[in-house]
Amino acid sequence: MKYLYTSLTFLFFFVNIYAQENIITVKVNEPQDTISKHIYGHFAEHLGRGIYDGFYVGKDSKIPNTNGIRTDVVEALRELQIPVLRWPGGCFAEQYQWRDGIGPVDERPLVVNTFWGGVTEDNSFGTHEFLQLCEMLDTEPYIAVNIASGTVKDASQWIEYVTSDKDSEVTRLRKQNGREKPWDVKFWGIGNENWGCGGSMDANYYTNVFKRYSTYCNAEYKIASGGEWDDLDWTRTFMTKIKEVPNFIDIAHGMSYHYYTIANDWTVKGSATDFVEEEWFRSMDQTMKMEDNLKDHIAIMDEHDPDNKIALIADEWGTWYDVEEGTNPGFLYQQNTLRDALVAALGLNIFNNNARRIKMANIAQTVNVLQAMILTKEEQMVKTPTFYLFKMYKEHQDAVQLPSDFQGKTYKTEQGEIPTLSVSASKNGKGEIHVSIANVHPRADLKTTLDLQGLNKLNTVSASIISADKMNSFNDFGKEEQVKIASFDAFKKKKGKLEIEIPAKSVIQFKVQ
Ligand code: AHR
Repeated sequence: MKYLYTSLTFLFFFVNIYAQENIITVKVNEPQDTISKHIYGHFAEHLGRGIYDGFYVGKDSKIPNTNGIRTDVVEALRELQIPVLRWPGGCFAEQYQWRDGIGPVDERPLVVNTFWGGVTEDNSFGTHEFLQLCEMLDTEPYIAVNIASGTVKDASQWIEYVTSDKDSEVTRLRKQNGREKPWDVKFWGIGNENWGCGGSMDANYYTNVFKRYSTYCNAEYKIASGGEWDDLDWTRTFMTKIKEVPNFIDIAHGMSYHYYTIANDWTVKGSATDFVEEEWFRSMDQTMKMEDNLKDHIAIMDEHDPDNKIALIADEWGTWYDVEEGTNPGFLYQQNTLRDALVAALGLNIFNNNARRIKMANIAQTVNVLQAMILTKEEQMVKTPTFYLFKMYKEHQDAVQLPSDFQGKTYKTEQGEIPTLSVSASKNGKGEIHVSIANVHPRADLKTTLDLQGLNKLNTVSASIISADKMNSFNDFGKEEQVKIASFDAFKKKKGKLEIEIPAKSVIQFKVQ
């Protein structure tokens, strides 16, 4: 009898596990932090064809524009509700002299962009043009000041030029240049990658420099440079030393974090379009690993700043491949496939799920550079798979994060094993729940149950999907789009849950009302 009972218990347990083999749980009644809309931010550097050709073609171009800013690109990007745009770099920020980029365009000095391609920078896109672009996009600007080859005075006067309503030499200059009222610019970066291209500083030295600049930079929200992605000592040193400043929160509001997804290694990064499954796996695996790395940095920040006052700002992230054949190696131009949309989904799921400390993220970079939303070729424009992913995910902006979890099959290869699904969920002010699910397996569809725990009734449910025939499907100039958002209906309600057939290599978003 005892034997029979044990066997039945085992059988029941086994059947139960099998029946629930793949299950996503969302805890609707346990709302967490607000997912800052700034997590859906972008980055635009004076690099390759990002600014020039991408955003800016100049007033005399035959390509339709307003004051030189491309109409088609602005119209497309407005679909994404970009909340914040970081500029002018990147590494370029540390060579940028803001005074070169104001005043009559034909009087602006020519300089050489030593970081990116050694090309001539004519400074025709400067502070006024950038802030006009932000107004056109209805986005908040985030400006990084030069602390490696500039001075404290340069940085503080730039901030005064842009934001002050007081009478001074620089605000008179701004008015003389056609802008009477100050702009409202909240976010200012104090340097960029100061461990590397921003002056090869160590954490101790940088923190002292940061304190000096930050004390004289009269800005609302100041963001310090973080260390290299795996440099936990940098984070520890910065957090320890910044706390020595009384009222440290007046000078430091965020610390930056950069993490790029490389499918191979930094010497041979691999092609953006011509790749094999091993490279697909490594892109997914490496992006998923960002979460553990972020958690390590966050644990140090929690230890030193338990009140969560200093935010982690992931202001550069995304895929980085070898440049497209035949293009300038210093321009970082790459195509963008379905793989990139999946990587973007994984990254955004990670940021959504760690929204307590992560208050901003800026994918690199918006147009024609690295993991771009838009690619341009003269007057033509392409919306990339990553564009559509950001369009789909904008629903999470400023919504409240809901805990979610996936238990089930893994995607196993000779190189390792990762969860097949990545999930994040949120509830917005209208009470709508959005659950975003990425299936990283390139060959296997997955039958999955979605259990929205705490929801009495599943009323209206709708869903959309991003997928394509091939791992490397992409959108090309003059051709029909291969990757875009479509509606999705391979699911049914069963006993208050959803049973879903999640196609291989896809991202799905459910909206539940
Ligand atoms: O995004 C390209 C470059 O990557 C940035 O200029 C720099 O900050 C990072 O190393």
